[in-house]
Amino acid sequence: MFEIKPDIQGRAEIETLVNTFYDRVRGDELLGFIFEKIAQTNWQTHLPKMYAFWETVIFRSGGYTGNPLAAHAKLVPLTNMGREQFDRWLMLFRRTVDDLFAGEHAEHIKSCAEDMANVIHARINHVPDARFAPANLTPEQRERYARYKSPPQPATP
Ligand code: HEM
Repeated sequence: MFEIKPDIQGRAEIETLVNTFYDRVRGDELLGFIFEKIAQTNWQTHLPKMYAFWETVIFRSGGYTGNPLAAHAKLVPLTNMGREQFDRWLMLFRRTVDDLFAGEHAEHIKSCAEDMANVIHARINHVPDARFAPANLTPEQRERYARYKSPPQPATP
C-alpha cells in the first residue's frame, strides 16, 4: 500500500535517523571497522553528539560545538578516507533518510550531508572539492567560471 512518510520535525526524528544510520554503518564492510577498530568509538557518547550535530545543522538548536574536520583528519593516517568511503557513507545516509522520512527537512538534511561530505573529503585529503570539478558544473556555473578565469579586458581609451 502507498505509505505516507513523516518529515523530520525535531529532535525525536533526528534520534531515530542517527540510530538507524549508525546501525547500518556499523554493519557495513567498508565503514564499520573504521568506527569499531580504528577509532574504537564509544557509541554512548558518539550518538548523542551526532543528535546534537544534526539538530544544530537542521534546526540551529542542538548546541553542537565540535570540530568535524579535525575528527576526520585524524583518521587519514590510520585508514582509507577516500572517495569510495565517502560515497558509501552518503549512500547509506541518503537511503536511511529515504527509508524513514519524506519532505522539506528530509531533502535538506541529505543536501547538507552531501555538501559536508564533499568539504570534509576535499579538505582532509588535500584534493579539489568534487562539486567544483569542471565535469560536475552546470553550464551556467561553467560560463561564470570562464569569466572569472579570464575577466573581460578593460576597454582601451
Ligand atoms: C568516510 C566517511 C566517514 C567516516 C568513515 C567517518 C567516521 C567518523 C569517526 C570514526 C568519527 C569519530 C567517532 C568517535 O568519536 O569515535 C567521526 C566523527 C564525526 N563525524 Fe564522521 N565519518 C565520515 C563522514 C562524515 C560526514 C560526511 C559527516 C557530516 C555530514 C560526519 C560527521 C561527523 C561528526 C559531526 C563527528 C563528531 C566530531 C566531533 O568529535 O565533534 N562524518 N566520524
